[in-house]
Amino acid sequence: SLLDVIINNNLDFDGYGACEGTLTCSTCHVILDPKDYNALPEKPSDEELDMLDLAYNLTDTSRLGCQII
Ligand code: FES
Repeated sequence: SLLDVIINNNLDFDGYGACEGTLTCSTCHVILDPKDYNALPEKPSDEELDMLDLAYNLTDTSRLGCQII
């Protein structure tokens, strides 16, 4: 996932991925370019959409980074 890329490369995004991908936070919220959003093979699950509802500045192309594979 995008979260794995950030962790595995020791990228410092303060607070990003607080729940470590268990879908209990929205700190991994990312806003994608529409072209990239539509190119993803999987659309967000109902569980992801529920958590996205809690994200700051939600957009039509928002995803949770821990769910992007
Ligand atoms: Fe918490 Fe993605 S890291 S929902």
